[in-house]
Amino acid sequence: MQMGLLDLLVFSVPLLALCGAEFSSKVGVNYGQLGNNLPSPARSVRLIKHRLKAQRVKLYDANPSILRALKHTDIRVSVMVPNELINAIAVNQTLADSWVGSNVAPFYPATKIRYLLAGNEILSSADNTTWFNLVPAMRKVKIALKRHRVLKVKVGTTLAMDVLASSYPPSSGSFRPDVSDRVMKPMLQFLNRTKSFFFLDVYPYFPWSSDPKTIDLDYALFESKNVTVTDPGTGLVYTNLFDQMVDAVIFAMKKLGYPDIRVWIAETGWPNAGDCDQIGANIYNAATYNRNVVKKLSARPAIGTPARPGWVLPSFIFALYNENQKPGPGTERHFGLLYPNGSFVYEIDLSGETPEREYRGGLPAPTNNEPYKGKIWCVVARGANRSALGSALSYACSQGNGTCGPIQPGKACYRRGSLVRRASYAFSSYWAQFRKAGGSCYFDGLATQTIKDPSYGSCKFPAVTL
Ligand SMILES: *[C@@H]1O[C@H](CO)[C@@H](O)[C@H](O)[C@H]1NC(C)=O
Ligand SMILES: *[C@@H]1O[C@H](CO)[C@@H](O)[C@H](O)[C@H]1NC(C)=O
Ligand SMILES: *[C@@H]1O[C@H](CO)[C@@H](O)[C@H](O)[C@H]1NC(C)=O
Ligand SMILES: *[C@@H]1O[C@H](CO)[C@@H](O)[C@H](O)[C@H]1NC(C)=O
Ligand SMILES: *[C@@H]1O[C@H](CO)[C@@H](O)[C@H](O)[C@H]1NC(C)=O
Ligand SMILES: *[C@@H]1O[C@H](CO)[C@@H](O)[C@H](O)[C@H]1NC(C)=O
Ligand SMILES: *[C@@H]1O[C@H](CO)[C@@H](O)[C@H](O)[C@H]1NC(C)=O
Repeated sequence: MQMGLLDLLVFSVPLLALCGAEFSSKVGVNYGQLGNNLPSPARSVRLIKHRLKAQRVKLYDANPSILRALKHTDIRVSVMVPNELINAIAVNQTLADSWVGSNVAPFYPATKIRYLLAGNEILSSADNTTWFNLVPAMRKVKIALKRHRVLKVKVGTTLAMDVLASSYPPSSGSFRPDVSDRVMKPMLQFLNRTKSFFFLDVYPYFPWSSDPKTIDLDYALFESKNVTVTDPGTGLVYTNLFDQMVDAVIFAMKKLGYPDIRVWIAETGWPNAGDCDQIGANIYNAATYNRNVVKKLSARPAIGTPARPGWVLPSFIFALYNENQKPGPGTERHFGLLYPNGSFVYEIDLSGETPEREYRGGLPAPTNNEPYKGKIWCVVARGANRSALGSALSYACSQGNGTCGPIQPGKACYRRGSLVRRASYAFSSYWAQFRKAGGSCYFDGLATQTIKDPSYGSCKFPAVTL
């Protein structure tokens, strides 16, 4: 049978495997599970395959139910050794063997496990005790895979942009001095020797949102027609922030003597919602970023970056679902391509085969691309667990000075029986005092920001003013 180009693309995996490239350029998805309302593994696998049309998935553990649900699906899978085990595995080959023996080997090869990541963003942790155990742990799991005859699995680890001391201009890219010689050098040697990848988490959203005056939003969204950045060191011309970030890592590797290690985009994405004090987290920007990044990363022939034109950048978008139990600012809980009920937050096709114009339905116009100016309060979130409010209120009231004076019996904001109003007052009061010092309006998901003044009668709620 004569094969057309399209057939070659569709059936490219086994054919290319003969030539030594065991991956196609299709975009995968990160399957995070920090939600208490997420679909079952079986349904999730159907959504990944049929709704998102993804051929790869990355897990943050080696969840056996998920690995079972992925059996015989042809989806290529990345599993992860939990951060908590890195120190123990680094000094204990028996433990590495038994971890692989019970978490990987039983599912292989029926589940197409192809990547084993030792830990998640270990070098971003403030606690440096694990940093120097990372590479020894990677070596031990590699040996363990061989002992269990799991031969097709590459070993890596995910790293965030904060492994760099310098990233601008890209040619100045260099690793942080506290990890450069002791961690990055041996890691790059390991990755090079085992022909693995540098698994990088890249979020143009973060540099843009922390400096939206200097960085053009369209440049961060791959939408800029007229903004370019020329690297004075190399003359390379950048048309988007993503390429700039990836190339900074490529130059840092080059500086340590490893110019050829392939980069894998382990996470990228854009939040579809966030808190009132966050900027640019909306469905319009998220759809624009993710559709554009899929278009770029699935293009054939591959586009690459200015430093590596034509190189394939395999990737995983973050994330499958909005995850309601992720701590931190609101954006953290809104990176999903899907809502927990399985419907699209916005239509997207990770196979890259849907042309832009075929996405149905318009996108809501962005309303928060400029920083919000005005007052914000921190109140009890809708659906918050009532039984947990009391201790959160006590915590908020025990911080700072006079945080909860007005909700004492007899005072203006005391309302007998209305725990929700008192807790809202306490959260607003706490946050108004502590936001500048890094305090957040979260309280384990019990609290949320609002721009609607919750004050009533003579009870005035303290506010954060931006
Ligand atoms: C190494 O790991 C094995 C398997 O978990 C355990 O039985 C053994 O006690 C560990 N050895 C040390 C020295 O911790
Ligand atoms: C690890 O962190 C501790 C505490 O912050 C610091 O004193 C020490 O110098 C760090 N070690 C290295 C190798 O960076
Ligand atoms: C990296 O691997 C390549 C191919 O195996 C090898 O030729 C090269 O010498 C290695 N680089 C270093 C710095 O070890
Ligand atoms: C690029 O074009 C936009 C829209 O026409 C304009 O607002 C912006 O100032 C231009 N930026 C530069 C750097 O020319
Ligand atoms: C799924 O959840 C989203 C967000 O809560 C909601 O807007 C949408 O209507 C739901 N879809 C279905 C089919 O229930
Ligand atoms: C609500 O909070 C209470 C007290 O913290 C806890 O015991 C309970 O499990 C929570 N319920 C839910 C559904 O999370
Ligand atoms: C509370 O007030 C005392 C005395 O005025 C002051 O020293 C302290 O720093 C205040 N604490 C906070 C958290 O504002």
